[in-house]
Amino acid sequence: MQTISDIRQMQTLACSLKREGSRIAFVPTMGFLHEGHASLLREGRNNSDVLVLSIFVNPIQFGKNEDLDRYPRDMERDLRIASECGVDIVFTPTAADMYPTGFQTTVTVRDVSLPLCGASRPGHFDGVATVVTKLFNIVQPDVALFGRKDYQQLAVIRRMVMDLSMPTEIVGMPIVRENDGLAMSSRNAYLSKEQRLSALCLHRALVAVRALFAGGECRVEKLRGAAFEFIGAEPGVTIEYVEFRDGATLDEQEVVDNATLLAVAVKIGQTRLIDNSVLGDEL
Ligand code: PAJ
Repeated sequence: MQTISDIRQMQTLACSLKREGSRIAFVPTMGFLHEGHASLLREGRNNSDVLVLSIFVNPIQFGKNEDLDRYPRDMERDLRIASECGVDIVFTPTAADMYPTGFQTTVTVRDVSLPLCGASRPGHFDGVATVVTKLFNIVQPDVALFGRKDYQQLAVIRRMVMDLSMPTEIVGMPIVRENDGLAMSSRNAYLSKEQRLSALCLHRALVAVRALFAGGECRVEKLRGAAFEFIGAEPGVTIEYVEFRDGATLDEQEVVDNATLLAVAVKIGQTRLIDNSVLGDEL
């Protein structure tokens, strides 16, 4: 396994690998890797000749009062996990190289970026779309893997790749959960023992709404009410949103069906957690 920080070196290597006919799979991350990231890496490994992982805590996707400065990092551990997952190249650029003085170009995916997390994190998805565009230009991937844990992010990337005719196949992967149902996230490291227990209300709400839907309930207000009951009852948890959206366009829905996305976001103390489920898919 090779670690590369220099943008030009990574790009030159990627271009020469492609000239030789290698298929490049790419998993972009912000590091502090867990089993969710590992599942993307393993799928990428099965699906390519060369597997590239990027680790870059992207400053432009964080809001002013968000957790950029305290985002968890552990490069040594990340490199160990990467190696265990069969990564060939770890790309670790610096923020100064990615965003040199005078940087002024932004990729905006307009409508899909607006609701849900986009509403409470203005500019977040511009930051994501911009860094992913840069990373794609540097790594030249044939296929890139993203988790459905960040469902809206995946929708933004899919739209961007289609709209800008990017020659990269996008693969969306299932949410990996802890044994008790909590969706894995680097940010779970922020939670105290009590908060970690409270966080289970997210999964419980998804399970409850899915059960109601399976029993024939299709009215959004009823289903949303059930989710609020489960999450609202949990001490120390504030609901940011509980929404039912079209799984592809993220447009609002009055009556739900199998393709409907149920997306939830909460705050527990300072920590923001998200989870989701497409009602017709497995949880
Ligand atoms: P990060 O939060 O590190 O996530 C990297 C990838 O891992 C994303 O595609 C995310 O959806 C996926 N992932 C995270 N938790 C997961 C879980 N429990 N199950 C399955 N997949 C999971 O997302 C980002 O970084 C950044 O926004 C990035 C795309 C790298 C751009 O900076």
